[in-house]
Amino acid sequence: MKIFEQWESNIRGYCRAFPTVFKTASNARQVDEDGKSYIDFFAGAGVLNFGHNNERMKRALIEYIESDGIAHSLDMYTSAKRDFISKFADTVLTPRGMNHKMQFMGPTGTNAVEAALKLARRVTGRQQVVAFSHGFHGMTLGSLACTANDYFRQAAGVPLDHVFRMPFESAPGGGLENLEEHERALADPSSGITPPAAYVLEVIQAEGGVNLASKKWLQRVQEIAHAHKALFIIDEIQVGCGRTGSYFSFDGMELDPDIVCLAKGIGGFGTPLAMNLIKPEHDEHWSPGEHTGTFRGQGFSFVSGKVALDYFDDDVLMKEVATKGDVMARSLNELAEKHADKGFRVRGRGMMQALDVVDGAAAKAMATACFENGLLIGPCGSGGRVLKLIPPLTIDDSDLEEGLAILKKAVNGVMEAA
Ligand SMILES: Cc1ncc(COP(=O)(O)O)c(C=O)c1O
Repeated sequence: MKIFEQWESNIRGYCRAFPTVFKTASNARQVDEDGKSYIDFFAGAGVLNFGHNNERMKRALIEYIESDGIAHSLDMYTSAKRDFISKFADTVLTPRGMNHKMQFMGPTGTNAVEAALKLARRVTGRQQVVAFSHGFHGMTLGSLACTANDYFRQAAGVPLDHVFRMPFESAPGGGLENLEEHERALADPSSGITPPAAYVLEVIQAEGGVNLASKKWLQRVQEIAHAHKALFIIDEIQVGCGRTGSYFSFDGMELDPDIVCLAKGIGGFGTPLAMNLIKPEHDEHWSPGEHTGTFRGQGFSFVSGKVALDYFDDDVLMKEVATKGDVMARSLNELAEKHADKGFRVRGRGMMQALDVVDGAAAKAMATACFENGLLIGPCGSGGRVLKLIPPLTIDDSDLEEGLAILKKAVNGVMEAA
């Protein structure tokens, strides 16, 4: 590990929480150089929905490389890109009656959010956007302005402007009443509040502590957005791609987003890809190459991303997500009941489940104990007080059970020692 400490920047983050050198990985297991095997409840922060080295994707990628398939093409047309686009349209968009256009940008989530913000500002001619407390949208300046976490915001070095912050539904002051108040202010020409370019939100705030918004609240935000000719942008970067038991986390909520931001899991294999789904009437406002990027639409990610979409041809995986999600929630609820006096709470949907242990230091000690006992898990939320469980959707039942047992032991151990 000395090489990393000697040569790699001080910015290193996750490696401090998981201080070992990983060498190989398969589905929900990562193995380090000493041969110690870890169960992965972190899955690359939501990238590896289909596991490490997914066999189907691995085979497709090896075949693609051996046949001299195009790895990099900027945004030129390739067979791999056409295959991905048509599979995505057939599997995700058409069955939902969506006619959104697909925009590829630099292959990170923050780049997708930047592109969405730019377009919303272009379409409306307005600068301000509404973002929500505890929201996380990325690290580049536009997205960072929408991200709520102060630690990240302080690193910007410049003012993070043009964002009006509102409380998320579950946050203090949040809820339907707050939205009514906001709408009254929009209607009052002397309130000092003017309609924004967009409302940008996560349906489930992942980094923010696994905070869930209700269908009613989301519909009301969308209604206000559209009543005031603002765009409704859903950031699906962490909760999309089947994580909640359906392709989109907003499926079944009767929402009609103007832009959907996707990244992380859409490349399937862990190879990077980001994509915005944009209503055609808004997409018309882009001019060719205006939001460019060298790595728009990465060839390998199109290949493995297309294979990932095969999982949505039927409901086998999504049924498994529902079952495994229930197993996870049940196990966390037992812990929450045991430590009810400390105010533990369980939140989540599908295979994003979380235990809020209220205290960031306790959560850190629990995550450390998990690591020592062979489980990778990452805290999130205010002060890191929430243990978020996001294993690969394809995790074996036995690994899931074993991981939950390690977690239980770690949580109880830390609480007994307190
Ligand atoms: C909801 C959400 N939006 C945006 C991002 C930023 O994605 P990236 O780190 O790929 O830039 C993340 C990353 O965790 C995220 O969870």
